[in-house]
Amino acid sequence: MNQQIYVQCRKCKSSFPYNTYVITCPDCGHGWLDAFYPSPAQSFTSGAAPANLWRYREHLPLHHAENIVSLGEGWTPLLHAKQLGSQIGHAHIYLKDERQNPTGSFKDRQASIAISMMKEAGIREAVVSSVGNVAIAYAAYAARAGIKLWIFVPEGIPDEKVRETAVYGPYIIKIPGTYDQTKQAAANYAKEHNLFLDRGIKGIAAKEAMKTIAYEIAEQLGEPGLWQAPDWYLQSVSGGLGPVGVVKGFQELKEWGLVNKIPQLGCFQVDGCAPMVNAFEQKRPFAEPIRHPHTNIITLTTGDPGEAYEVLFELMTQHGGEMASVSDGEAYQALHTLARTEGISVEPATAVAIAGLIKFINQGIIRPDETVVVNCSGHTMPVSEHILLNHPPRQSETQGSYFEQPEPV
Ligand SMILES: Cc1ncc(COP(=O)(O)O)c(C=O)c1O
Ligand SMILES: [Zn+2]
Repeated sequence: MNQQIYVQCRKCKSSFPYNTYVITCPDCGHGWLDAFYPSPAQSFTSGAAPANLWRYREHLPLHHAENIVSLGEGWTPLLHAKQLGSQIGHAHIYLKDERQNPTGSFKDRQASIAISMMKEAGIREAVVSSVGNVAIAYAAYAARAGIKLWIFVPEGIPDEKVRETAVYGPYIIKIPGTYDQTKQAAANYAKEHNLFLDRGIKGIAAKEAMKTIAYEIAEQLGEPGLWQAPDWYLQSVSGGLGPVGVVKGFQELKEWGLVNKIPQLGCFQVDGCAPMVNAFEQKRPFAEPIRHPHTNIITLTTGDPGEAYEVLFELMTQHGGEMASVSDGEAYQALHTLARTEGISVEPATAVAIAGLIKFINQGIIRPDETVVVNCSGHTMPVSEHILLNHPPRQSETQGSYFEQPEPV
């Protein structure tokens, strides 16, 4: 049994003990809820913890260990990127290799916690929407838990991702529209059929999952009993879940005296779908939706971030940080730079963060003495056709120039 967990509503701030899967605030009906834990558990820094995210079980929203649905997610390596660093002129770059999660992306953390919570609440059938990685991750974990899953995806996502999702046996519904329209279709379907709808960033599971990235970074950068926060946490963003959860994690650690600072955030979007960056550059706390995203990097096409941007704006105003957008071409170039310097092959959506890292170092936004952690959020594997741009591999003597000017995929 876990320590007592509480839930707080973002809007009216009322809080109540967390007993079962809550969906909206019982006082005002608002949908953005956060879990909190009154104190750090005794065992927080003990060395005997399992090598997955459930090492932090006492700070996760699950009451009974028998409900854990795990494939070994989390506790991914934190790699010092020396070669990339020497190429782009920065000595303190670390890569959180989230590709090494069971289905190849950081969304496995979210799937493990969300599906475990569903299991604990007795939910047998659920609806989720995704641009690919959540679909794959949830399909795998739902299969393991024996939960029937309806997954809504926009039609533009790579076939490889749909096939990878389908292997696990969920129902997949392709929506001829944008990701935002897909989310709406999923919500409508859940309502019509009275099914549980995964609420993504608004719900408790997703943010609690992403905060484990912060715990791990602090534990891995530091030493036993002396955890350490980096100066920067960098990620490509679509809905904004990763950075929101990661800051929550560092806030908790700071409150409990386990780290002495909260990193600044570097958040990156693609030029063709950058509603958060547009708003942030004008210092506006609300984002104007992008109705027609124009990019081949479908993974990052949340056109209407809604409340997530408001939260991110508040967090970045409080703790510092910058946002920027990069072109698809810059992302593809960064993808190959990373692969060739560090042996790490990320998907284009992740490469957006590498392109952003290069940009911030060149612009002096990240100072030479600052420690940077970049989330290597997903593997190239389920997007292989897009990575190679439908061409056969090239001869070694001409290596280098081939990917400079990627064609549209
Ligand atoms: C590989 C990858 N990177 C980055 C993101 C952006 O994540 P978020 O904005 O939800 O933190 C996603 C979202 O699906 C993703 O799949
Ligand atoms: Zn409320």
